[in-house]
Amino acid sequence: MKWQLAETAKDLAAYIRSLDEDLAEPPPAGAVVTAPALSRAGKTAKAAAVTPAPAAEPATSPAPLMPSKKTASMDELAEQVKACRRCGLGSARLNAVFGVGSRKAKVVFVGEGPGFQEDHKGEPFVGRSGQLLDKILETVLGLKRSDVYIANIVKCHPMKNPSDPESHGNDRPPTPDEIAACRPYLDEQLRAIKPDCIVTLGSVPTKVLLNTDKGISLMRGRAYDYPVEIVPGRPVKLIPTYHPAALLRNPNLKRDTWEDMKMLKVFLETGKIS
Ligand code: URA
Repeated sequence: MKWQLAETAKDLAAYIRSLDEDLAEPPPAGAVVTAPALSRAGKTAKAAAVTPAPAAEPATSPAPLMPSKKTASMDELAEQVKACRRCGLGSARLNAVFGVGSRKAKVVFVGEGPGFQEDHKGEPFVGRSGQLLDKILETVLGLKRSDVYIANIVKCHPMKNPSDPESHGNDRPPTPDEIAACRPYLDEQLRAIKPDCIVTLGSVPTKVLLNTDKGISLMRGRAYDYPVEIVPGRPVKLIPTYHPAALLRNPNLKRDTWEDMKMLKVFLETGKIS
């Protein structure tokens, strides 16, 4: 028991040190921490140290849970997303950001929506918060981004000024209509991958996928059953945690995130939620 506690403390210390290397770096000049959700991170129940954000929570009215008749292949879906004009985001963005990683992944990480860097590269989580996500995957789970799947609630960059995709600081949260228009793509991705677990990063994906209006600090710390059937008779677990960019803003959230990721690790290894 003592030995286990010492190992856990050593483990946590190594994780915090390793993330600190990232947190110590100032953001590159002109860079934007991409997730619009960051500014809305709530207080953590334990640390109570998140700077309350001035911006209001978006009215993420629960998106309809779409039953699907036929499962599209991932390649077909990616093509559909590239050509999508279901909402205004499709005409303003530079690149659709479909998703990345293993199509056989046991775990799918879901963020809010692409930011500046993701829009330019066409890949989710490639900015500073993405680098932190990679580090968390590696240090806590021993996984690479190619071992998991990473996607977003909306596939195109929501911009305050859609006529200027080259400007930094042009991010905004997706609207309920944009979320509802894009939701079927994520549902189809999940049906194609059939993961055992979904990890929602931050308040927006947690609210949307769990159909709740409670923020991330209230929802994290336990696992839920994803309320949409992906594989008949087999519920998919959903573990909410903080968005990595919230950790960049508030390092006190690292410990809660570590605990959430440890829960995920135990689940992936044993099929049980601790
Ligand atoms: N934040 C997100 O929510 N998604 C990304 O892809 C990048 C940053």
